[in-house]
Amino acid sequence: MLLLKDLLNLPLPKQKAAASEAFIRGVVAQRAHKSDEEIAEMELAVTVTGVMHVAAMREAREGRVEAELAGLVEGLAVANGGNLSYPVILSVDGQILHNHYHGNILEKGQLVLGDFGAETAMHYAGDITRTFPVNDHFSNKQKEIYQIVLDAENNAIASLKPGITYQQVHLNAARQMADGLKALGLMKGDMAEAVAQGAHALFFPHGLGHMIGLDVHDMEDLGEQYVGYTDNVHRSTQFGTAYLRLGRALEPGFVLTVEPGLYFIPELIDQWRRKKMFTDFINYDALKKYRHFGGVRIEDNVLITKTGHRVLGEPIPKTIEEVESIRMGG
Ligand code: GLY
Ligand code: MN
Ligand code: MN
Repeated sequence: MLLLKDLLNLPLPKQKAAASEAFIRGVVAQRAHKSDEEIAEMELAVTVTGVMHVAAMREAREGRVEAELAGLVEGLAVANGGNLSYPVILSVDGQILHNHYHGNILEKGQLVLGDFGAETAMHYAGDITRTFPVNDHFSNKQKEIYQIVLDAENNAIASLKPGITYQQVHLNAARQMADGLKALGLMKGDMAEAVAQGAHALFFPHGLGHMIGLDVHDMEDLGEQYVGYTDNVHRSTQFGTAYLRLGRALEPGFVLTVEPGLYFIPELIDQWRRKKMFTDFINYDALKKYRHFGGVRIEDNVLITKTGHRVLGEPIPKTIEEVESIRMGG
């Protein structure tokens, strides 16, 4: 920016408005389609990221401080020849999104949500989330929520192919998780209507994913609307779905994240209850037992191919059995 200031005699505050939209669109069109060389680099980023996640899953114990695990995974990113692709999120307070506080001591009964990734020496990013119990096993209550998120993630991934809009994939995942919450008695009524009105966002207040590449939220510095939306697919204005960073139809060569989550955010629950929001769809009394549950998110990085999709990197444990096996020393 300082160089541009000198070359163009353009003060810093005026630079953004003077940018060429045609040039931005050209850069996005080129960078949105990853070449074979880029995809190989991203496979490497995700594979290193998997090593980091398995290490955190193995080393978590009651009495350890979150920062010990955050330091461990950062060290592994560096040791494998790269660095972190964004500041580590690793917390027993998974319900606090983008939470970089690492001062909690792990206690039995809690869930640890780890959202972190490696960036390769060539600066391609991985962005993976896994959630696991401090105990060796998930409790039944944790299993129920975890399985809803896992099923939504697997189904969303299975549906990925050229032509489908990511906005639709997001809404399908929201609907599926709402159905799961209804089966547990936490939501009620007509779930199609609940999702249309945005009631699910109490539990899923973020987007299903974003493009990833040289940046973890790829190219968004150029303007999120150029990356995630088109003249035909517009960003929703509804709380929750409005935060979906990628809504447009998918094309071969796109690499994106799939990251559904369910969270129990006491402050948001209290606020919505006080305002009597969506009382036809949310069973506030049943939520009392989930006040200290935390959150579950599961995130993978997926390439859109000509005929479908491919999950990048070596598989990272994510079924309940796989995660518990690592927790028990597997
Ligand atoms: N790690 C930030 C995100 O998942 O978007
Ligand atoms: Mn993430
Ligand atoms: Mn992400």
